[in-house]
Amino acid sequence: MYAKARAHTNIALVKYWGKKNQELILPYTDSLSLTLNEFYTTTEVTFNAELIQDSFLIDGQSVDSKNEQKLTHFMNLVRQQSNCSLYATVNSENHVPISAGLASSSSAFAALAAAASKAAGLNLDQTQLSRLARRGSGSATRSVFGGLVEWRKGNDDETSFAVPVDEQVDFGLEMIAILTDTRVKKVSSRSGMQNVVATSPYYPAWQQVVANDMVAMKSAIVKKDINLIGQIAEENAMRMHALTLSAQPSFTYFNADSLVAMSAIKDLRTQGINCYYTLDAGPNVKVIYQHTDRKAILDALSTKFSKQNLVVSLPGPGIEYLE
Ligand code: DP6
Repeated sequence: MYAKARAHTNIALVKYWGKKNQELILPYTDSLSLTLNEFYTTTEVTFNAELIQDSFLIDGQSVDSKNEQKLTHFMNLVRQQSNCSLYATVNSENHVPISAGLASSSSAFAALAAAASKAAGLNLDQTQLSRLARRGSGSATRSVFGGLVEWRKGNDDETSFAVPVDEQVDFGLEMIAILTDTRVKKVSSRSGMQNVVATSPYYPAWQQVVANDMVAMKSAIVKKDINLIGQIAEENAMRMHALTLSAQPSFTYFNADSLVAMSAIKDLRTQGINCYYTLDAGPNVKVIYQHTDRKAILDALSTKFSKQNLVVSLPGPGIEYLE
């Protein structure tokens, strides 16, 4: 009863920010992301009759009690679905800075959903896997697929899952992650979005923004228009971050270097190099651009950021079963 799977992180171009149902992780809106090849999680799960509880190791370290609770809850879901009553050892290796707005929970729960369901003898199709991953973390719903992926909000557990929009992405779309701080973030996405839904007067407007952006983004993808994709993604991200500033108490995920990075991208645009930015629940900035502009963008950014903090990523694959 052993399986090993890998999932890649995804970065939303049209963001998910708010749950209608906390337990089932049903979102208020649809969302759309790009799965990245550079950041991933590899997870092994072994169910074993001799264990008296689950044990979790992430990058060789045991997890804190909050994460242990989240992970145990998730393993209980797998046990319920599979009628397996055994406990498991879970061993996860991240190729991504954890909790720094690089969407580590997306790859973590997608890889765990795949490895745990397979080890428990469940033979889930991609839709079922996406629904299961969703129960661990909303963004993980999308990491089941590679390339450009849409999470349809649905209205219950059965109807809320991801579908691929363009799994191949053959038009030169790339991302550079500008790492401005890779420490664990102060406000988790979970509590940040809860605070926003409860207190921001702009939340109803956000739902309308996303509905419009989903239509525009899918049309930009069909046209393979990277500038339009970038423009919509940047505007969508800024409107999401405006929600954090309008919450009570207000908060922000930006740090001083996030502002430096955003301004550098805008400067590049005024010089005629098309590039756009997006940020998630952390201060790191991701740049969206066409691969022929990569060198010019890296050259400009490396005058402000050290080379090791500029990570280029191409579109990545969906779930891979390794054993
Ligand atoms: C800003 O998926 O981390 O990255 O569902 O509570 O685990 P939980 O939240 P999470 O939130 C992701 C927020 C985001 C936008 C996105 O990925 O769509």
